[in-house]
Amino acid sequence: MIRRAGSTTLQCVLLIGILSGCRPLSKQAVSPGSYEHGVLADHAMVVSAHPVATAVGLDVLHAGGNAVDAAVAVHWALAVTSPWAGNIGGGGFLVLRLADGRSVSLDFREMAPAAATRDMFLGPDGQADPDRSEHGALSCGVPGSVAGLYALHDSLGHLPMARLMQPAIDLARKGCVLTPMEAHDLNGCMRKLQAYSTRPNAFTARCHWAAGDTLRQPELAATLERIRDQGPDGFYKGAIASAIVAEMARGGGLITAQDLASYRPVWRPVVEGRYRDAQVISMPPPSSGGVLLLQMLEGMEGMDVKRSGWQTAATVHRMVEVERRAFADRSVHFGDPRFTDVPVAGLLDNRYIAGRMADFDPYHATRSDRIMAGDPPGEHEQTTHFSIVDAAGNAVSCTTTLNGMYGSGVVVGDAGFVLNNEMDDFSAAPGVPNNYGLTGGEANAVAPGKRMLSSMAPTIVVRNGKLLMVLGSPGGATIPTCVFQVILNVVDHGMDMQQAVDAPRFHHQWMPDTIQAEVRSISKMDSLELVRMGHRFKVRRPIGRVDAILVRPDGKLEGGADPRGEDAAAGY
Ligand code: DON
Repeated sequence: MIRRAGSTTLQCVLLIGILSGCRPLSKQAVSPGSYEHGVLADHAMVVSAHPVATAVGLDVLHAGGNAVDAAVAVHWALAVTSPWAGNIGGGGFLVLRLADGRSVSLDFREMAPAAATRDMFLGPDGQADPDRSEHGALSCGVPGSVAGLYALHDSLGHLPMARLMQPAIDLARKGCVLTPMEAHDLNGCMRKLQAYSTRPNAFTARCHWAAGDTLRQPELAATLERIRDQGPDGFYKGAIASAIVAEMARGGGLITAQDLASYRPVWRPVVEGRYRDAQVISMPPPSSGGVLLLQMLEGMEGMDVKRSGWQTAATVHRMVEVERRAFADRSVHFGDPRFTDVPVAGLLDNRYIAGRMADFDPYHATRSDRIMAGDPPGEHEQTTHFSIVDAAGNAVSCTTTLNGMYGSGVVVGDAGFVLNNEMDDFSAAPGVPNNYGLTGGEANAVAPGKRMLSSMAPTIVVRNGKLLMVLGSPGGATIPTCVFQVILNVVDHGMDMQQAVDAPRFHHQWMPDTIQAEVRSISKMDSLELVRMGHRFKVRRPIGRVDAILVRPDGKLEGGADPRGEDAAAGY
């Protein structure tokens, strides 16, 4: 069974909210019990941003593939069905938990080219120039996805890689019918794609796309076939590598043949922490996502969240205050661990987090300009997420991205895929916000061969040694807070998976010092109370797009596909 989430209602509600200039309204629509549950299955589940990619994953599981096989096939498929974020020209992170309880993470994040320099995104006036870091060839990091998928497959893949790639190849050649949202997004990026692509390509074949049009990607099909036949060398060496380098030459980018040939993904130990009776497993640096998530969860331990209530002023206030402090730490302490000493153990030290919350005032907002990053002890939209559980109980949580929608806008000439604009995730200059309003400093400065800091947080939650949840989200800076809120919704508020995913969200990232809130995420009364405490609000577009799986007490798997997108869950 496949169920595709619909977004129309939510978008209408958001629009009405913004048009009427209102603050978040009542929470009636999200009270537990008023929701349909998500897709249920007895054995295995796939939840991804596209129903066709979900169906590809399910088919692989039916064919005897395991969660790793399904993840590999879904990733290839998303590169075709969802080229705004699914990719071979970007990178990502993945957390894998085997049925026997072992877990590990895979970092296939992009890297800065060897010729990258610290000040490369400063204009002639010495100021950060977002045009250089956000679009075009200079914004591209060395892609990691293809190497990552092969490393993942080599680790535990069961079915042949050719089998896992074939659905993507067929889809690219046959074409995908665009939904209204996909046509809208592609049209919205048309100027960028036209401006930064130097050769005719599938996306710019028309100036305007309509729902129901078929997007055929024959060049991408040929690229995928080359990779299928030659392995990672089919991408990182030879004709495709030359096409990427030629694109750099035409657009003033820095990636060289040597950069491509030397790209390597990295297996890393996961970061782990406890929240209530659950064990939370997530992504270590160079993503900040997992550590921030664990810091925020630990910061909530002192509060009886269930008793305090869902999205009441008291609960929101506490959540905002832990988010504020975690994001202040992000701005200073996080970067690529190969280049900077990220004090993970110190940042996750319970006494350190308790100390950070020592000045928490239950009645008043702390001003962000009075909060600085702490001094931890010891060592020092667009992205896509998918979650998979197989019949043996292996689980994969994967978040992959081009950074912005359609990345840099550079479609590699005749090879049919978009390159990322991940270089914008570096700090162009200390204290200068990136596309997500995030600031950073020395630890995340540009350097050759360095991985840019991320917020992605593919996460797995375990209770009593048994798998409880697999989840993650796109959303730039909002990613850790999306995952944080969904975990609280399940663990504290007893929601089922679909409820927890659907429930309106809010986000605070230290700077700007504002609670960004979806319409209806906080009741009018609670909003007023929070304003009285000194918080500021901004109503904003949907936050994140969580695709998650819950193992229910009866042992059934519940897939929660986020209605903010066109995501789909399917299981058997
Ligand atoms: O790695 C990061 O944190 C960002 N490049 C993610 C971008 C993202 O989630 C965009 N989606 N809305």
